[in-house]
Amino acid sequence: MLPATGYAMRDANRPYADERAWNGVEIDFQMASDPLRIEPYLTGLSFDYVSLHTLDLSIASPHAPARSYLDALVMVAEENGAVAISDHLGFTHGTPGGANVGHVMAPPCTEAALDATCRNIEIIQRHFGDRKFYVENLAHFFLMHGTMAEATFIRRMLERTGCGLLLDVTNAYANERNFGHNAEAFIREVVPAADRLQMHLAGGFLDARTAWYVDSHSEPVPAEVWRLYRLALELGRGKVDAAFIERDWNAPTEGGWRAEVRQVRRIARETERMELVEVAS
Ligand SMILES: [Fe+2]
Repeated sequence: MLPATGYAMRDANRPYADERAWNGVEIDFQMASDPLRIEPYLTGLSFDYVSLHTLDLSIASPHAPARSYLDALVMVAEENGAVAISDHLGFTHGTPGGANVGHVMAPPCTEAALDATCRNIEIIQRHFGDRKFYVENLAHFFLMHGTMAEATFIRRMLERTGCGLLLDVTNAYANERNFGHNAEAFIREVVPAADRLQMHLAGGFLDARTAWYVDSHSEPVPAEVWRLYRLALELGRGKVDAAFIERDWNAPTEGGWRAEVRQVRRIARETERMELVEVAS
C-alpha cells in the first residue's frame, strides 16, 4: 500500500495543494484552531488522508493531559476530516496549566518516565477512539541521564501501548550529527516495533560556529535523509500510512515545492514496486 504523501500545510505551500503527488496532509492544531477562524482549516481542499499534529499533549509529563485539550483536538480533527493525531515524545509542562517550557523536551529514558508516558498514551488513545495516535521522536538539544537508550525507550513504548510511530527521519539524522547516535540503527530498532507509521522529512543546516546541525525546516531534504527514508519504507512495508515534508522557512519556488513532494512519492513507489517483485519471485 502506497503511503499518503504531502506536506505539513503552511500558508506558503497551500497554493500548491493541487499537486498530484500531494494526496495527504498534516495540519497544525494551533493554526487549525485559531479562534478567529470561521471555517474549518481545510475548507476548499480535498486530501485522501488528513492528520492533525500538535505539541502540547506533553505525554512524558507525570500528569495526564487536560481533558479540555483532548476534546479540542478531537473537535478540530472532526471538522477537518483527520483520521490521525500526532504529538512528540516529550514534555512541555509538568502539570496541566503549569509553566510551559515553550518547546517539547525529551524525557530522561528511565523506567519511571516510560511508565508515565505509556499511561498517558493509553488515556489519549481511549479518548481518541478510532483516530490513530502517533508519537514522534525528537531532535535533542541535550540529553538527560537515563537508564536505557532512546531507541529502547521508544520500542518498549510502542510495544506496550500499540500507538503509532511518527518517525521523524531528520530528527534521527540530527541526533547522529550532534550526538553520534547511529540513525540507521535507531530506525532498525524502532520501525519493526510500530504497528503503524507516519514519517517526517525536513532539511536543516550545519552551524559552522558551533558545528551543530540545526533542524530548522528551512532547507531541502538532504541526501542522507532520503536514504534513511527509503530504508524506513523498506523496514515498514505495509504499515506506513503517510510521509510529510516539514518546511517552515526559506520557502522554495513553486517548482521546488512540487519537486520535493514528487520525490517523496517516487521513492515510496519504488519501494512498493520492489516489494511486488520480491513477492512474485
Ligand atoms: Fe517532525
